[in-house]
Amino acid sequence: MSGILDGLSDARLYSACVVVVLYLTTCAYFLWPRRRPALVATGGDPTLIAFASQTGFAAELANRTAQSLQAAGAPVMLASLQQIDNRILKQTRHALFVVSTTGEGDAPDPAAGFVRDVLDGAVPLKELSYGVLALGDREYDNYCAFGHRLDQWLRHQGATALFDVIEVDNGDEGALRHWQHQLSVMSNSPDLPDWEAPRYDRWRLTARHHINPGSAGDACFHIELRPQTTDVKWQAGDIAEIDPRNSTWDDKREPLPHREYSIASLPTDGAIHLLVRQMRRPDGEPGLGSGWLTAGARVGDDIAVRVRPNPNFHAPQSNVPLILIGNGTGIAGLRALLKARITEGRHRNWLIFGERNLAHDRFYGEEIERWRASGQLERVDQVFSRDQAERRYVQHGVVECGDELKRWVSDGAAIYVCGSLQGMAPAVDAALSEVLGADLLEELAITGRYRRDVY
Ligand SMILES: Cc1cc2nc3c(=O)[nH]c(=O)nc-3n(C[C@H](O)[C@H](O)[C@H](O)COP(=O)(O)OP(=O)(O)OC[C@H]3O[C@@H](n4cnc5c(N)ncnc54)[C@H](O)[C@@H]3O)c2cc1C
Ligand SMILES: Cc1cc2nc3c(=O)[nH]c(=O)nc-3n(C[C@H](O)[C@H](O)[C@H](O)COP(=O)(O)O)c2cc1C
Repeated sequence: MSGILDGLSDARLYSACVVVVLYLTTCAYFLWPRRRPALVATGGDPTLIAFASQTGFAAELANRTAQSLQAAGAPVMLASLQQIDNRILKQTRHALFVVSTTGEGDAPDPAAGFVRDVLDGAVPLKELSYGVLALGDREYDNYCAFGHRLDQWLRHQGATALFDVIEVDNGDEGALRHWQHQLSVMSNSPDLPDWEAPRYDRWRLTARHHINPGSAGDACFHIELRPQTTDVKWQAGDIAEIDPRNSTWDDKREPLPHREYSIASLPTDGAIHLLVRQMRRPDGEPGLGSGWLTAGARVGDDIAVRVRPNPNFHAPQSNVPLILIGNGTGIAGLRALLKARITEGRHRNWLIFGERNLAHDRFYGEEIERWRASGQLERVDQVFSRDQAERRYVQHGVVECGDELKRWVSDGAAIYVCGSLQGMAPAVDAALSEVLGADLLEELAITGRYRRDVY
């Protein structure tokens, strides 16, 4: 990355860097979209934050993104897409793109040169890992089209997506919190403050069971939360956000950042079910969110919860076959999807799940077996990594079932992956690429038949 800075160290850009210090503390500057924005770097190996904005919102969010990463001690370089060329991209290791869509699915005007000079060509970007925040509005036909075009182009150049494109429908707060969550993961700063404090509802903790006693892994708890208000709706694939100490109601201290958990149930269950692994911090203290849900709060207590719609992980609308792949607590999101499919009478479902030991880690094993025996779940492959001499993971299961997987995909199957971002998701991606071919996998991603909810 220093190469970029070397390349940019002429007097013009030096003065631009000085300007940007003011710029970071003055959002108003950013709301002036045609003004030539500057690059900022604060030493080390900076993350490039590049934005394309028509009316200023993407610029403002890029600015907030830069501030969050800087608060976490991560060096950043902030730039408009109009300043980015192939040379800069080739020298960049980490980049975040915050881009809106305008016109009829077009790039914002300031990015026209980038589209012509960069996006219409090719450049090898194997060293680059990136994330895209795509701003748009579902009222338009080409929803978030420019964000997706940029993402596809980056994938084509060999760059690695850190996570799937986060779409922001008309400034949706939940999607923005999801982006903030990714920033805390990227900067290894679990306590980054929320940009806006979410509004929570009261839910009662009505049940909590330790479901993997004796496991070689950390304890996992099945948790049930019942709403204390009526008309609460969610869909399979949605996320529960919790306030880790009910600070919105009970104390006057600075609110803590929220934590996200995949919902494992449907509204017809009458409760949100979660599967939460109790994490420990380096000092041995329980994690903020998982500690609160699994030990801090008592059964019968009220918990501050908010549901975040996660349309990218909703079940397919048509009756296509569904392949569900996951590990560990990832079964939570997959269980809700399976329940939704079964409720709709859609039984062409295949679960490929990985954990450590059959004896302790068969999460929701009896239920899954019941669904399989009754034909509501056509096929189940469980891979237990420590039940044999060599380590076997879910990605090995994917490769071993390759021929059958190809048949399902040629029958129109969609593939949904839920679970660990580190380890599982990239390995499953590589396994799917090996089985299906990189081009077909990319095509599935573009057409919404390959979706991931990984953390
Ligand atoms: C979309 C989504 C869905 C999710 N679904 C689930 C789910 O279904 N089930 C589930 O269990 N989890 C799920 N998660 C993960 C969950 O949101 C939390 O990240 C997880 O519970 C850990 O949070 P925590 O507050 O308990 O731990 P934290 O207090 O945030 O600690 C997390 C980790 O960071 C490390 N850490 C913390 N503080 C520091 C520090 N100061 N310095 C260095 N390292 C530190 C600790 O080692 C710990 O392992 C999901 C996440 C996302 C984004
Ligand atoms: C004239 C106009 C055209 C737009 N066209 C699209 C579109 O085709 N697809 C889409 O998803 N959003 C579209 N939007 C919504 C914007 O992407 C959305 O409002 C975004 O938050 C604007 O961000 P910006 O201020 O950074 O440009 C359009 C907005 C305007 C005003």
